[in-house]
Amino acid sequence: MKIAIVGTGYVGLVSGTCFAEMGVDVTCVDVNAEKIEALERGEVPIYEPGLDEMVLRNQREGRLHFTTDLTTCLNDVDVVFSAVGTPPDEDGSADLKYVLEVARPLRRARKHVVEQDAMATQWLLRKALINLTIS
Ligand SMILES: NC(=O)c1ccc[n+]([C@@H]2O[C@H](COP(=O)([O-])OP(=O)(O)OC[C@H]3O[C@@H](n4cnc5c(N)ncnc54)[C@H](O)[C@@H]3O)[C@@H](O)[C@H]2O)c1
Repeated sequence: MKIAIVGTGYVGLVSGTCFAEMGVDVTCVDVNAEKIEALERGEVPIYEPGLDEMVLRNQREGRLHFTTDLTTCLNDVDVVFSAVGTPPDEDGSADLKYVLEVARPLRRARKHVVEQDAMATQWLLRKALINLTIS
């Protein structure tokens, strides 16, 4: 099975690497080109015990890939996990703009989507995947 994880932060990078460790072919996608370039060089931007070794091993064995190109990646995967950030908005509530940004290409590609965010975000993404008008 091939999957994509959109958002290569704490949640996306750790879960993507764990799926790769279990033998799944994983592409981690992020809009942050510097982060993706660093990961391609084997530089892991966060600290989790054992993560560096797991990233390097799975990359070397061809199960873990990194890209900024979500659209191309979607042509080649069966399931997509959304793990983009939901930073605090000015009033302290979660800013959901990244969730909605990602919903559009996901809906267009008609892939199975798994939402890794909190419950309210899952509800919003589900609603966006159903109701978005694609231009
Ligand atoms: N970190 C935690 O312990 C934790 C626990 C439970 C739930 N969550 C939820 O999981 C989600 C991810 O959290 P995190 O801590 O990994 O966030 P993070 O900020 O560490 O990472 C989010 C990543 O998403 C990327 N991104 C933003 N817009 C994008 C887009 N359009 N396409 C591709 N990538 C994009 C950012 O560049 C960033 O690398 C959040 O909704 C958060 O609330 C996090």
